[in-house]
Amino acid sequence: MLAERTSPRPAGDVLVHLTRDSGVALHRQIEKSIRDGIRAGRLPRGTSLPPTRGLADELGVSRGVVVEAYQQLIAEGYLTSRPGGYTRVAIGPEPAGGPPPALPAGRARIDFCPCRADGSQFPRAAWLRSLRRVLTEASDEAFGYVSGRGAPVLHQALAAYLDRVRGTSARPEQIVICNGYAQGIGLLIQTLARSGARRLALEDPSADDDALPLARAARMEVVGVPVDDDGIRVDLLARTDADALVLTPSHQWPTGAVLSAERRAAVLRWARERRALVIEDDYDAEYRYDRAPIGAMQGLAPDLVAYAGTASKTLAPGLRLGWLVLPPPLVDAVAAAKNLADRGSPVVDQLAFADFLGRGEFDRHLRRMRPLYRRRRDALLAALREHAPELEPAGIAAGLHLVAQLPAGVDEAAVVEAAARRGVAVYGLAPYRIACAGRPGLIFGYATLDERALTEGIEILAEAISDVRSR
Ligand SMILES: Cc1ncc(COP(=O)(O)O)c(C=O)c1O
Repeated sequence: MLAERTSPRPAGDVLVHLTRDSGVALHRQIEKSIRDGIRAGRLPRGTSLPPTRGLADELGVSRGVVVEAYQQLIAEGYLTSRPGGYTRVAIGPEPAGGPPPALPAGRARIDFCPCRADGSQFPRAAWLRSLRRVLTEASDEAFGYVSGRGAPVLHQALAAYLDRVRGTSARPEQIVICNGYAQGIGLLIQTLARSGARRLALEDPSADDDALPLARAARMEVVGVPVDDDGIRVDLLARTDADALVLTPSHQWPTGAVLSAERRAAVLRWARERRALVIEDDYDAEYRYDRAPIGAMQGLAPDLVAYAGTASKTLAPGLRLGWLVLPPPLVDAVAAAKNLADRGSPVVDQLAFADFLGRGEFDRHLRRMRPLYRRRRDALLAALREHAPELEPAGIAAGLHLVAQLPAGVDEAAVVEAAARRGVAVYGLAPYRIACAGRPGLIFGYATLDERALTEGIEILAEAISDVRSR
């Protein structure tokens, strides 16, 4: 009766007893049987439960009854499930014999997730002041539809901020507000594909969840161009006949390389010669630790570069606030695509952000965050030096994550899994590679972890690595 996929099946176990005339609801009886089984150790941690449909058929009840029972036990923390995956026992002693099951990523005790800013540092009071001002002072008309480009007051505030801090050459009329980088890159790819672009070059490795699937969905061919310590290999880029290139020059995702000055110039020469578009993803440029942030490439060639910025790393990803600074010929088409997608981003947040920028709150927030993230980065580097000296950190100059290369011969996926079993989530480079193989390595986000957690996480990782090596 009990589907067992990862750990030994408890001998002679019956998962659920149902008594139809007991007056106790069926889903409650199912819950109780499973809860009791877990408490008594008959269902050890990691045990897969049967699919809801299978168990419902077996018990002669509707599937909804089983779903309700599983959901209750998930809410209570007895079970865990991931979309499309099995429902498993989440607590209790590890099964004897085999290795402990991997914790689902969401359950890791120490998570080196590279994709998050520290949500506990969101400037709530200052944001609230901006919101309050907007809600008390903005005209009634301000709450109506905006154009696909967004709220003019935010265009003004962003152009001033980006020119001053990021070295762009942005006029307010070149700016389109969008729901994060994810939507911005989608609008750009859609616009490029409509205008006949066929081939999109991406850094290899690069993000696997935005430009790559979006370009494939738009039936564009994706060409991966290898990245080394100085960023994208422009000599290899020149061999592609791509119509556009997506680039993370200030802190390459995921390797952390900063694009060298020579290569910036070479990329722009390539784009000018080919009449190609460079899409500059400036996602965590505000955090540079060894010197002042390097200016955006857009400032060097506003006619060739579409600049994409986001509040996800500086404020919070849940705001879904992003912006594009576009070469003038692209503005109308991208704004039309945005208008078609959703008639413009939510206006109250745009007005609040304009106020927040205009009053210097964004600068103040970044001035506060930089030393905090720098301390976390330094704690991570110190922990790596002390507990895992064979890992070579790279990409440490900027951003909210770094990469550490694994010693030759150590299997990346095995280390990720061994660490996950110990409650530590680290992320391998392999899922981000398009075509080119490279040395195995791990990505460590440090923005959300305090110094103790960073150190403990690396100590545990070191054990995981030695476990993998001794196999
Ligand atoms: C390479 C890269 N660019 C941009 C972003 C930000 O995306 P969004 O603005 O949609 O949250 C991320 C998020 O983690 C990222 O990894």
